[in-house]
Amino acid sequence: MKCRPAALIYSPLPSVGLRISSHSTAIASSLFLFTTRSSPRSPSSRQTVQPLPSPSMDCSSSKETPPSKPAPWWTGETVAVVTGANRGIGHALAARLAEQGLSVVLTARDEARGEAAAAELRARGFPSVRFRRLDVADPASVAAFASWIRDHVGGLDILVNNAAVSFNEIETNSVEHAETVLRTNFYGAKMLIEALLPLFRREAGTSRILNLSSQLGLLNKVRDPSLRSMLLDEEGKLREEEIEAMASRFLAQVKDGTWADHGWPAVWTDYAVSKLALNAYSRLLAARLRGAVAVNCFCPGFTRTDMTRGWGKRTAEEAGRVAAGIALMPPTELPTGKFFKWCTPQLYSKL
Ligand SMILES: NC(=O)c1ccc[n+]([C@@H]2O[C@H](COP(=O)([O-])OP(=O)(O)OC[C@H]3O[C@@H](n4cnc5c(N)ncnc54)[C@H](OP(=O)(O)O)[C@@H]3O)[C@@H](O)[C@H]2O)c1
Repeated sequence: MKCRPAALIYSPLPSVGLRISSHSTAIASSLFLFTTRSSPRSPSSRQTVQPLPSPSMDCSSSKETPPSKPAPWWTGETVAVVTGANRGIGHALAARLAEQGLSVVLTARDEARGEAAAAELRARGFPSVRFRRLDVADPASVAAFASWIRDHVGGLDILVNNAAVSFNEIETNSVEHAETVLRTNFYGAKMLIEALLPLFRREAGTSRILNLSSQLGLLNKVRDPSLRSMLLDEEGKLREEEIEAMASRFLAQVKDGTWADHGWPAVWTDYAVSKLALNAYSRLLAARLRGAVAVNCFCPGFTRTDMTRGWGKRTAEEAGRVAAGIALMPPTELPTGKFFKWCTPQLYSKL
C-alpha cells in the first residue's frame, strides 16, 4: 500500500531559484525536501512538511522564484539501496533519502561501521533505514546481497552506486593499488548492477540507477586519440566487452610498467580509468535499459571527505543533497544516459 505521499503536506523552500536547464528545475523540484514535525516517525503517521533551510548549492540562485511543487512519485515503500554509505557522500545521501521518507537500505563492507551508521540515522528519526553488509568488490557478497533483497525486501527502485576507493593523495599519482581501484569502482559497480537488475520493480518511470562518478573520467581527459574515439562511439558500435578489455589493458600496462606511455588520463590515473570505464558502461547500459531503468552518472565535484583527505569545495551533506535530488527526479523529467556535473547534465561530453 502506498500511503505516505497522501499524508504529506508540501511547503516550498523559501528561496531556491535555478539556473537555466529544465533538468536543474526538476532536480530542484525534487529538492523541495520534506521534514517531519514528529520524530521519530511512524510510517503511517501523518506528516507535516516544513521548509528546510535554503541549501547552499551551486545550482541555486536567490533571484528566481521556486518552481511549483510536483507531487512526489515515491512512497515509504520505495526502496533505495546506497552502497558505501557508512561515511562520506554515501552516508549523507542515504540520510537525505531517508529524510524524504523512502525505505533506505544502507550498505557497507564492514558490519560494525555499517550498523553504526544505520543506527545513527535511525536515532535521527528515520526508522526505515536498514543495514545490510555489502562488499561491492566481492562476488560472494554481491550475490548474497542480491538474494537478501529478493527474499527479504522484495525488490528495489533506486540503486546508488556510491562505494569507491582512491589511494592517492591530492598531488600524487601512484598506480600501486590500480587493481583494487578498478575492481571496486568499475567492476564492483557493474557486478552489483547486473545482480540487481532482475530485482528492479520497473514501475513506470521509477526504476533508476545513479552512479557516483568523476569528471576525472570524462573523455576530454583521455590523451590517446584512438581510445577517445573508441569511447566517443559516434557510430554506436561500442560493446561492454571493449570497455572491459580497456580496463584489462590498463591493468596489464600497470603490471608491465608501461601505463604512463599510453595516453590515459594524467591525474589520479587508476581512479580516472575506473570512472572512464564506469561512465562508458553507464552509457551503454542506459541505451540497453531505455524505457525500463534510467541510468545516469553524477559527479559531486571536489568534496571534503576522507577520499580527498578533507580537502574540497563543499561538504558531503551538500553533495548528498544534490545527489538525492537527482535520484528523486520526477519520472517525466528524469533523463537517462547523462553525466551530471553537479546539477547540470553535460551537453558536450559523452559519458
Ligand atoms: N569526494 C570527492 O571529491 C569526490 C569527487 C568526485 C567523485 N566522488 C565519488 O563520490 C563517491 C563517494 O566518495 P566519498 O568522497 O564519499 O568517498 P569516501 O569518504 O572515501 O567513502 C567511500 C565509501 O566507499 C566505501 N567502500 C570502499 N570500498 C568498498 C567496497 N569494496 N565495498 C563497499 N563499500 C566500499 C567506503 O567504505 P569503508 O569505510 O569501509 O572504507 C566508504 O563508505 C565515490 O564514488 C567517489 O568516487 C567523490
